[in-house]
Amino acid sequence: MKRIGTPRTWSMLICLVLFSMLIAACGSASGSGVAAGGGTTAPAATNGKGCKKVGVLLPETASSARWDSKDKPALEAAIPKAIPGATVDYNNAQGDADQQATQADADMTNGDCILVMAPADSLKSAAIVAKAKAKGIPVIAYDRLIYSNDLNYYVSFDNTAVGALQGQYVADHYKTYVTGANKNTVMINGAKTDNNATLFYNGALSKLQPLYDNGSLKKVYDQFTPNWDNATAQTEMEGALTANANNIQVAYVANDGMANNVIAALKAKKLNKKVLVTGQDATVAGIQNILTGDQAMTVYKAITKEADATAQLVAAISNGTDTASLVNGQKTTVPITGGADIPSVLEVPVAVDKANIQTTVIADGYVTKADVCAGLPAGTDTGGLCS
Ligand code: BGC
Repeated sequence: MKRIGTPRTWSMLICLVLFSMLIAACGSASGSGVAAGGGTTAPAATNGKGCKKVGVLLPETASSARWDSKDKPALEAAIPKAIPGATVDYNNAQGDADQQATQADADMTNGDCILVMAPADSLKSAAIVAKAKAKGIPVIAYDRLIYSNDLNYYVSFDNTAVGALQGQYVADHYKTYVTGANKNTVMINGAKTDNNATLFYNGALSKLQPLYDNGSLKKVYDQFTPNWDNATAQTEMEGALTANANNIQVAYVANDGMANNVIAALKAKKLNKKVLVTGQDATVAGIQNILTGDQAMTVYKAITKEADATAQLVAAISNGTDTASLVNGQKTTVPITGGADIPSVLEVPVAVDKANIQTTVIADGYVTKADVCAGLPAGTDTGGLCS
């Protein structure tokens, strides 16, 4: 039999094969560093460690002035302050959950290694968290919970407490508006797709249900409002007025944006100031409505604190430092599809009415006297702030 090659050639060949197998194995194990086309890529931050590129995904602009005027600038300032050199990719889904998924995909493709997201839809957004998890990208749910057991953190306010403040305000002041059998109450709630709307509702009911049960108030209308659409809230109020021959004394309204439209419906019937209207967000328009007496109260949520807490978490993830002291043992259980306890930072909301505008939102610089007083028609400021 003829020998093919010398033993030396054979051992060299075997070495070569083993060597190339080793190289191939090393390449697939690292999974990054060399792009398919041969160019080099920056090594991806795993689980946010070393991350300096943060995707911020907000849900919409039309439902409340807060998203554009407060959350966006606060997050864009706080994140680079907490991680020097960090950049923020800002997105707004304009109420479209599919659009938000597309924006999240784009962020992840562009190298964003931590996502901060206020979901357009608390349920659908779980798919974004699943994709992020597969790529080792941590997700912080911002303001609104995401129904995912894989969610890393949740930063918000105590939203049941927000609803309880609104409900308690009604409980404390309804007697000024109710006479005899005229105690009809409407509830115009937020969007069912936003977990917060359910929390606000439950919080409010914890104070209102006893009044419905003992006959102090009569609930005649109760509706969740798709997308928190402000114009829809007006249609809802018009429908409730018509169905009750304009006999309504209390309008529990979940936020200032919707309250402003509910007030428009009341004005059309010359019933503004005669109905107790609630709100939330301490928007400039909301505070103006309180000063004119068209709205009774709002809930002030210091969004700078919410954005700062988020930035602190982002920085801790990036620096690989402990987050325990930031979340302080707080947890939120994922409802509906979950069960997991998500480490949470929950800030404290404050009720605001004519009596404490000055010492809360103005003192904090959340709204300025100049902004509130500009455009307020002369003689309409019943709160004495502008005159
Ligand atoms: C926020 C409120 C806001 C509402 C509509 C909720 O999730 O917590 O502050 O008014 O969405 O945008």
